[in-house]
Amino acid sequence: MAGTSSSTDVTDKQAARGGRRTIVTGGAGFLGSHLAARLLAQGDEVLALDNLVTGSEANLEPLRDHPRFRFVRHDVTVPWKGSAERVFNLACCASPKHYQSDPEKTVRTCMEGSLNMLRLAHRTDARIFQASTSEVYGEPEVHPQKESYRGSVSPIGPRACYDEGKRCAEALFFDYHRVHGTDIKVARIFNTYGPQMQLDDGRVVSNFIVQALRNEPITIYGDGSQTRSFCYVDDLIDGILALVDSPRGITGPMNLGNPVEITVLDLATRIIALTGSRSRLVRRPIPVDDPTRRCPDIGLAKETLGWSPRVPLEEGLRRTAEWFERKLRDGRQVPEITSAVA
Ligand SMILES: NC(=O)c1ccc[n+]([C@@H]2O[C@H](COP(=O)([O-])OP(=O)(O)OC[C@H]3O[C@@H](n4cnc5c(N)ncnc54)[C@H](O)[C@@H]3O)[C@@H](O)[C@H]2O)c1
Repeated sequence: MAGTSSSTDVTDKQAARGGRRTIVTGGAGFLGSHLAARLLAQGDEVLALDNLVTGSEANLEPLRDHPRFRFVRHDVTVPWKGSAERVFNLACCASPKHYQSDPEKTVRTCMEGSLNMLRLAHRTDARIFQASTSEVYGEPEVHPQKESYRGSVSPIGPRACYDEGKRCAEALFFDYHRVHGTDIKVARIFNTYGPQMQLDDGRVVSNFIVQALRNEPITIYGDGSQTRSFCYVDDLIDGILALVDSPRGITGPMNLGNPVEITVLDLATRIIALTGSRSRLVRRPIPVDDPTRRCPDIGLAKETLGWSPRVPLEEGLRRTAEWFERKLRDGRQVPEITSAVA
């Protein structure tokens, strides 16, 4: 399934097999692997590019023998010389634990990775999607967050490599659109969860579920009153595809997420009840710059795309917990979880 990094003819071979030639960067990650599966199901030729820093070939296992699918291990900070009709730029570690472990690389992935993919899109006249983030709003002073809100981000804190990297990527996308007329689509994704998250990647839903299933203490940062809004992965992929299929003039940035807000403490309590866990809650100091409130205003996506999430939190958590239960039953060695930051 995996090829070498600098292959230039992969997309030409795809073209020979028919189907819309699509590149998904970060294709072995949580969202990228779900997106690749959906694109294949709708008839596209999919090339997944990923350096596997947080992604995993296991996520692509169900796709590996598909005749219209190809995976190449490739780092997006290195230009990709192939062509495409559509590019989905998802490459970037999304969990604070991972993006903070190599902040310089995070900035480079956001900036150089986006630039390389924008150059490819410009060169081959492709439509290009950017997976931006609610983190561009930082510690928000308005609630819920609308796209017109410009954000309150610390440029020097430990989250800045990601938050500012993603803000810079947005700037590059809109400059390419203004200067070169590049056909861009930018979504600001709010917390999304579901099967195929890494067991130990430090995101709050996956960590709470795994801790609950193992009856381990569940770590709450601060008093747990900080809020998040959690979107089930299938809903998010519907939103991404609706945005990318929308008319050319619709560029975003557009919020995609679930506007139902819940405290982190309430989330932990629900997961304990759902899994019948004996886990107790343990408190830790709140990390620097951890946002206190996070909730999307999705009015623009509703009005423009007719999109809104459909999977209720209880249902999404149930599906996710079942998936993690099966994964843990596989008996794979999984590192102990030490932190959970949304
Ligand atoms: N899941 C969410 O809640 C969420 C929220 C906001 C934004 N996003 C964005 O969506 C995208 C996907 O997030 P995810 O949740 O699937 O995270 P993930 O960590 O599971 O996936 C990211 C993928 O990118 C790959 N990657 C990282 N750096 C790379 C590089 N330099 N070259 C090639 N591949 C690289 C990783 O190996 C991984 O497979 C990210 O850009 C993230 O910022 C996700």
